[in-house]
Amino acid sequence: QETASLAISNDSKLTISKYIYGQFAEHLGHGIYGGFWVDKSLPVEKQDRIRLDVVNALKKIKIPSLRWPGGCFADEYHWRDGIGPREQRPKMVNTNWGGTTEDNSFGTHEFLELCTLLGTEPYFAANVGSGTVEEMSKWIEYVNSNSTSTIAELRKQNGHPDPYKVTFWGIGNESWGCGGNMTPEFYSDEFKRYASFAKNYPGAPLKKIASGPNSDDYNWTEVIMKNIPEWDMWGISLHYYTVPTGDWGHKGSATKFTEAEYFETMVKCLKMEELVTKHAAIMDKYDPKKHVALVVDEWGVWTDVEPGTNPGFLYQQNSMRDALIAATNLNIFNNHCDRVRGAALAQTINVLQSLILTDKEKMLLTPTYHIFDMYKVHQDAKYLPMQLTAPDYVSGDRKIPAVNVSASQDAAGKVHISLVNLDPTKNISISTGLKDIKWKTVTGQILTSKNITDINTFDQPNKISLQSFKGAKKDGDNLVVVLPAKSVVTLELF
Ligand code: AHR
Repeated sequence: QETASLAISNDSKLTISKYIYGQFAEHLGHGIYGGFWVDKSLPVEKQDRIRLDVVNALKKIKIPSLRWPGGCFADEYHWRDGIGPREQRPKMVNTNWGGTTEDNSFGTHEFLELCTLLGTEPYFAANVGSGTVEEMSKWIEYVNSNSTSTIAELRKQNGHPDPYKVTFWGIGNESWGCGGNMTPEFYSDEFKRYASFAKNYPGAPLKKIASGPNSDDYNWTEVIMKNIPEWDMWGISLHYYTVPTGDWGHKGSATKFTEAEYFETMVKCLKMEELVTKHAAIMDKYDPKKHVALVVDEWGVWTDVEPGTNPGFLYQQNSMRDALIAATNLNIFNNHCDRVRGAALAQTINVLQSLILTDKEKMLLTPTYHIFDMYKVHQDAKYLPMQLTAPDYVSGDRKIPAVNVSASQDAAGKVHISLVNLDPTKNISISTGLKDIKWKTVTGQILTSKNITDINTFDQPNKISLQSFKGAKKDGDNLVVVLPAKSVVTLELF
């Protein structure tokens, strides 16, 4: 057993934004169709065609925002195709994802109904790549205006008299790639043109989010921050995926990997720390008061698809390793909450790093779901800074930090500490001092499993699930935690 030391203080004025815990759902594979939105004949409880077992599971983890309809799909989506009588809606080919026929049965009203059921805020990604300023501008008017304009009247005729008041608007998606292959200079101008016609309606001041960099494209951030005034954008997005091998042609299996491959995956995962730090430093140059949020609105592990499934559907299983990836990323975001004030895991159900997998009427909660369940206590809580001295996880001649941690204090005064041990074989004993924080008792929850490759299946849906944690105790003013190998623990001190 190795040892580590941690010092947590309450000397901070920062809040961990709940929007860090956002999700993303694209028209891709069985994310929307066959995920949230199912056939009328499927024997599960539904409202309209929205699956309620899925809704209820997601309500438990308190999703603050849901990004839609893409992804790459957003820049070929025409919102007018998705309103009005469903049988009259045009059909289109989903050119990005498997060439399937999109029947537009899940459109603006259906998505907003889903958000209402979830108690979540919608985050629309508007079409900049193949759309027009007029189209985006009218979409905003359609959902947010309470006037008697023809477009607002159309929403009323379509069954929603009150404006929806959608405030989060992404101006394009990956405009450097599938969203139009633009240069950052060209995109900045496009952003300003689109943003000029993205109007605020009563009760719905817009939070405009610029299409941000791909991974470590620091020049993109530099140009956007230089060219777009900080008052004109609420946030700038960042997309970075953990690709186990680093090779997009052969990303690696979701379930069959060696410890060496696991180590490599964690190296890739921890790169998020460097990316957030460096993009934030560039933003600091142009926006020292930190008005503009860094919104990591696509993140997660991206592996090869499950054998035998449609490569365009991005369906992958979800292992104990993926839970460690989720927790590590969330710790990074929490610890950068001065700048990271939004994020979205890709992509909620049946796509990439999912919270939920479904197979017809069956459904299971993935290990990643349980991390979001454990971490929901940090939403909108006061950030607590810390200093950590911990051993490395060593593989051959390379090493990474074995432990990562984040902590917060909620409105009731409860302190929550989330700890991750990436080392798959060594327990680590952590002695923690809490400066100026009074507490009497400690309780906790743990997510771990025998193997890092373990998964939940439809036959064994609860193989990996939250357990109560008994490995923490009070020792004078100190907290002593024995953090098991390959585990995630959240403690509550009160
Ligand atoms: O999440 C899958 C895809 O990854 C999204 O459509 C795109 O934005 C990104 O490249």
